[in-house]
Amino acid sequence: MYIWQCNGNCKLWKSGLSIYLRSETVSKQITFANFIVWYYVLQLNVPLDIVMENVVNNFVDAEHTITLGATVPTGFEDVSCKEIQEKITALQTATCQGRVYFQVAPNMLQKIHQLRSVDNLFMVIKFYSSYEYNCSKEKLLEEMNDMPSKLPWKEVVKIWNKNQKYCKKKKYVKKFFASQSRGGKVQELEQSVLVSAEAAEPGNFEPKQKAAKCLQNDEDEIRFRVTANRVGKKQCITSPEAEWHFGGALQDLTQWKVDLSNYNLEVFLTLGIESVMISLSLTQGSLHHRNITHFGKTTLRSTICYNMLRLCDIQPGDIVIDPLCGTGSISIEGDAEWKEAFHIAGDIAHPAVSRCANNAKMINSKVGPSKCNIGILKWDAIDLPLRSGVADVIITDLPFGKRMGSKKDNRILYPAILKEIARVSKLRTARACLLTHDKRCIINAISQVSSLWKCQRSMFINVGGLSVGVYLLKRTLNFTEHDIVK
Ligand SMILES: C[S@@+](CC[C@H](N)C(=O)[O-])C[C@H]1O[C@@H](n2cnc3c(N)ncnc32)[C@H](O)[C@@H]1O
Repeated sequence: MYIWQCNGNCKLWKSGLSIYLRSETVSKQITFANFIVWYYVLQLNVPLDIVMENVVNNFVDAEHTITLGATVPTGFEDVSCKEIQEKITALQTATCQGRVYFQVAPNMLQKIHQLRSVDNLFMVIKFYSSYEYNCSKEKLLEEMNDMPSKLPWKEVVKIWNKNQKYCKKKKYVKKFFASQSRGGKVQELEQSVLVSAEAAEPGNFEPKQKAAKCLQNDEDEIRFRVTANRVGKKQCITSPEAEWHFGGALQDLTQWKVDLSNYNLEVFLTLGIESVMISLSLTQGSLHHRNITHFGKTTLRSTICYNMLRLCDIQPGDIVIDPLCGTGSISIEGDAEWKEAFHIAGDIAHPAVSRCANNAKMINSKVGPSKCNIGILKWDAIDLPLRSGVADVIITDLPFGKRMGSKKDNRILYPAILKEIARVSKLRTARACLLTHDKRCIINAISQVSSLWKCQRSMFINVGGLSVGVYLLKRTLNFTEHDIVK
């Protein structure tokens, strides 16, 4: 019999050929694959079940501790976990695919909304770790009906109220659409549309569109919706059926108003393979919607940019360059978070340079202290107008060869870029973080310049459904051919 002590009060327990996860509250047999993950990956993190068990214990005491979850770009969970541990006094953290869970005091809500690596935030209301789905549809629907009555909605509303002032509101506006009726008469159709708070400012509308704020004055009135998600096919009910039954029972219980489009409180009902989670959304729309107003074909999400920048361990005074900047998403995010570093962005295409400049201008036009101070240039990344050895960090999103460029061009472009960024980088200390979908090409290119760059870490992340590689390189002590010729 072997016992492995994990962080927290949990033990992995091997008895004969079976492995069990044991704590004061849980005893569960786990698969060998899960054991490997927990043993090697989560040694520093308490397994999710344990975090969730604590939620159940603690939630009634929501004055003191709540368990939050955040969706993060898949592949960057551990990077995001570090941001959370660094910026927030999280009691416990746990990660699983595309999510990070952590326990905090409710007075940390403001700080949580300032996290930059996460897309959406939610609070776990209840987690049933081993839920046995009834095979009878009727009975399972009955269970969905009963579920809301077992949950502490008064406590939920307290947190919801506290969260309201940090949540970037989406405003509802009435847009007027001109439409042709059957008789040929032009009618004005009115439709409530959800737009972000910034876009809802009157100046941001086309002159033809008349906008008016919808009747949303009474912020205290709860208008809710339930959004259900199913994982796998084990459940004999569909997501809409789960939504109707759970939502209907919740309305009966609380008398809240149901509003599927103009809601201000959203409850998630996640029907997992063996678990059920009920959570409260803390964000209206993803937090990655920031910085960029002038989009390109391949604009990178701000949360992905932040996670890439974080991998490079940027220090005050560092010169950070994105040589293929597109709309400037990486440099703008870098400037927002690492104010004491110098951020330079450049691109070969004039439209990209002008979009990048417009994005920076837009940020500077907003009232408030945050200003964008990036340098923007038009250049060719394989012949940079920079002295050798000036850059501390090079961070860029290379053309994938799909929407931009071609895989054939990449075979020449990638090694040429790696050589040129090696020339402008500081020997021995410079870091480069490169993102691309063309993994074969970048691996070939890195091996061609192995005397200049050493690959320290590579990981795969999900960008719009594509598995994309992120490569963290460190500059060696060797000069480039170009330096030697000079
Ligand atoms: C994948 S996009 C970058 C997208 C950017 N991260 C964003 O969020 O908008 C690649 C960019 O590389 C630029 N590019 C391609 N070849 C280049 C070269 N030789 N020098 C500089 N930029 C180049 C393209 O114009 C394009 O804007």
